[in-house]
Amino acid sequence: MNISIIGTGYVGLVTGACLASQGNNILCCDLDNDKIGNLKKGILPIYEPGLPELVSRLTNTGNLGFTCEMSDAVRHSTVLFITVNTPTLENNICDLGNVLDVIREIADHMTSYRVIVHKSTVPVGTGRKVRSIMEALLKEQGKDLEFDIVSNPEFLREGSAINDFLNPERIVIGSGSEKAAAFMMEIYKKQRRKGIPLLLTGLETAEMIKYASNAFLAMKISYINEIANICEFCGADAVEVAIGMGLDHRIGCEFLAAGPGFGGSCFPKDLRALSGLGKTYGYDAGLIDSVIETNQRQKKRMVQKISAAVGPLEKSTITFLGISFKPDTDDIRESPSIAIIRDLLDKNARIKIYDPRALDNLKKQFPEMPVTYCDSAYTACEGSDCIVLATEWNEFSRLDFKSLKNIVKRPVFLDLRNVYSPEEVKAYGFHYEGVGRK
Ligand code: UGA
Repeated sequence: MNISIIGTGYVGLVTGACLASQGNNILCCDLDNDKIGNLKKGILPIYEPGLPELVSRLTNTGNLGFTCEMSDAVRHSTVLFITVNTPTLENNICDLGNVLDVIREIADHMTSYRVIVHKSTVPVGTGRKVRSIMEALLKEQGKDLEFDIVSNPEFLREGSAINDFLNPERIVIGSGSEKAAAFMMEIYKKQRRKGIPLLLTGLETAEMIKYASNAFLAMKISYINEIANICEFCGADAVEVAIGMGLDHRIGCEFLAAGPGFGGSCFPKDLRALSGLGKTYGYDAGLIDSVIETNQRQKKRMVQKISAAVGPLEKSTITFLGISFKPDTDDIRESPSIAIIRDLLDKNARIKIYDPRALDNLKKQFPEMPVTYCDSAYTACEGSDCIVLATEWNEFSRLDFKSLKNIVKRPVFLDLRNVYSPEEVKAYGFHYEGVGRK
């Protein structure tokens, strides 16, 4: 099938490459000339494991193409996926400007039936709004053309997005049009053949499934963080508590890893949007607000934990291993480490950081941050008063504590991701603390 993807950010590129890998003919469109020029040369704007190889293979086979021309994208396919950026404005309002620009272009160039699919997370109600704007635009141009709007939310996790796309737990298609649903079922036929359930719903329901899922996962994390904090007072081990809870299949083991709080471009933003949506109807979503607040508190609590372990922070050297909001990504958006580091800097601590992928993003986004960038975990730990394992990158799971002991100033190890067992680290003479375990 010919499919156009409009917007070559994270979601657009993964969607385009994965659909191309399933034999479709994909044209990815972006207004950013440099980005498209780079993509044609195989240079990707994001880091995602496996994506560069996939993009280069499919560009060579001709299944994946790139263009800056919206007219080409609209002509190329009946199905158009919109995956443009939808930034959050002040008051947590989602800026739909890019989506509306794309809609105008589609209306200008379409000459026959089109299925317009929203894949990025957009506020509940966007599909309906876009439908009426599109109707008005076509009417203005005197075009008597049919189109359908579909909400097909993505459930991709950074770091494992390719597998999440090809082998999702479910596919959600919100539309209300049988014709559009038939196109979508054809696009996802390979996943359906594997027995992956495809749920057909109305537009708003599909849009809400995305928010409700992310908010639920975030709630699980805040819940276990809350439990972990209580565990620290009463001597229970939060990692074992999570296993004991998760073995009940009604609860499930995943997203019960206590830590410094959740970050990323999705959970924090989506929770705020959901709370904001309730407020527009005069409804206070207290539970959602409390997940947001618990997450903020968790970051503060990590600062207290570091303070308590180090003593006076002034002129102490704190090493951060990991700055990305989770492993296998260079994304630092709303990373809990950044809030923690800012707080420590305010208290005049010295910060040394090493991250396998995210240092360039940190330099670019926070050039004013007075921290020392290091090119290895060990350089970062030299002369350190406290090592903070902040992101569970694989390479931090096999640290040589014997060598570390010789290069640090003080053997203090704060494992904010509970990667190690306390006994293992203590055996090397380190003071060890995890989250919810000592
Ligand atoms: C999340 C969802 O998991 C995806 O299903 C969704 O498609 C995506 O948002 C999105 O809306 O686009 P992502 O933001 O990539 O994916 O990352 P997650 O793996 O969900 O992790 C989010 C944050 O929670 C990270 O900071 C992570 O460290 C933290 N986390 C996760 C925990 O602290 N504990 C856990 O047990 C799990």
